Amino acid sequence: MKKVRWGVIGAGGIADRRTLPGMMLSEEAELIAVMEINEELAENLRVKYGAKRAYTDHKSLLADPEVDVVYIASPVNFHKEQAIDAARAKKDILLEKPICLDIADAEEVLRVCEEEGVKIATGFLMRFHAINAKIRELVQSGAIGQVVSCRAQFTCWYPDIPGAWRQVKALSGGGALMDLGVHCIDLLQYIVGSKAKRVASFSRTNTFNYEVEDQASLMMELENGAFAYVESNFNVPDAVPSKLEIYGTAGSIVAYGTLSQVEGGTIDVIAADSSAGYDAQQTRDEVKKLDVNVEFGNMYTKELDSFGRSSRDGAPVEVPAADAVWAQRIIKAAYESQETGKIITL
Ligand SMILES: NC(=O)c1ccc[n+]([C@@H]2O[C@H](COP(=O)([O-])OP(=O)(O)OC[C@H]3O[C@@H](n4cnc5c(N)ncnc54)[C@H](O)[C@@H]3O)[C@@H](O)[C@H]2O)c1
Repeated sequence: MKKVRWGVIGAGGIADRRTLPGMMLSEEAELIAVMEINEELAENLRVKYGAKRAYTDHKSLLADPEVDVVYIASPVNFHKEQAIDAARAKKDILLEKPICLDIADAEEVLRVCEEEGVKIATGFLMRFHAINAKIRELVQSGAIGQVVSCRAQFTCWYPDIPGAWRQVKALSGGGALMDLGVHCIDLLQYIVGSKAKRVASFSRTNTFNYEVEDQASLMMELENGAFAYVESNFNVPDAVPSKLEIYGTAGSIVAYGTLSQVEGGTIDVIAADSSAGYDAQQTRDEVKKLDVNVEFGNMYTKELDSFGRSSRDGAPVEVPAADAVWAQRIIKAAYESQETGKIITL
């Protein structure tokens, strides 16, 4: 089997922390080249991960004929230019979330990829978490009936750091909502299988001093009638696990710690008999919990292999960038709602 030959642009951040270690576990991926702006860092990363070549500008990496697919993990303000250059160089692209600073840039990237006939996926890797995938399967099979409400809470501790690009709106496009909330926005719609049609949102910078929001709350009305809530915070300690909750007419699913960079966490599924009539006592002592077994792996390896197969074998793109453009549309509506105090129809 031919290996998928990768080049990594912006290899020194999350790529070094998680994605490249995930790539090293893959039997299908081969790392050809890394690019970092600092020459010494680029060379150190080349040696660390056994890449053939190290570059200090993305265009040189894109000119490397051995590279078939690029993973772009630079700060968000560089995504548009680098993705468009990659598309023009006929490389398939796995582009980190949030895909661009705003919806107009994201749409342009997609248009150029279409023009050039290259595939593009987004780094919504939470979809590959074994529990999240299981939750989707359970929901789609009707295990908890019709979904009426759901919530995703994803937080971290991100204090003021001089020079941090995420804390500058022109470089990141926004704060906790852009960075963490975007995962929740995508995951809830993916699990429920329904898209947002109306959005309302609050945000503020409450704890720290940077210009982007350190807390944001978002409510979406989905097309199927369910309500979806997103809580994203930069001002809650890292020790607090994420929470994912799905409520339906025949039960509920609650998972802790499944929005994370490491597969793990717990899941509780309650399946209830909703054919029973009204019970004024609201008896809750005969709760039936479903046993759920999942096998944990490495989300980054799964993400890379999934897109690698799309590039090499033409397999359907599991996380198409169009879904990230949609998430970006929701974020734009959220910021509009925060500014105007209105509910925004998409
Ligand atoms: N999927 C995930 O688990 C995950 C986690 C964190 C971040 N991210 C995303 O990855 C991207 C990068 O975030 P990060 O946390 O790694 O940031 P970071 O600041 O830790 O790392 C970014 C890297 O890009 C390099 N860089 C700077 N300018 C560059 C340029 N012009 N071209 C190429 N590289 C350049 C920096 O030197 C740095 O090594 C963002 O889009 C972020 O949202 C994804």
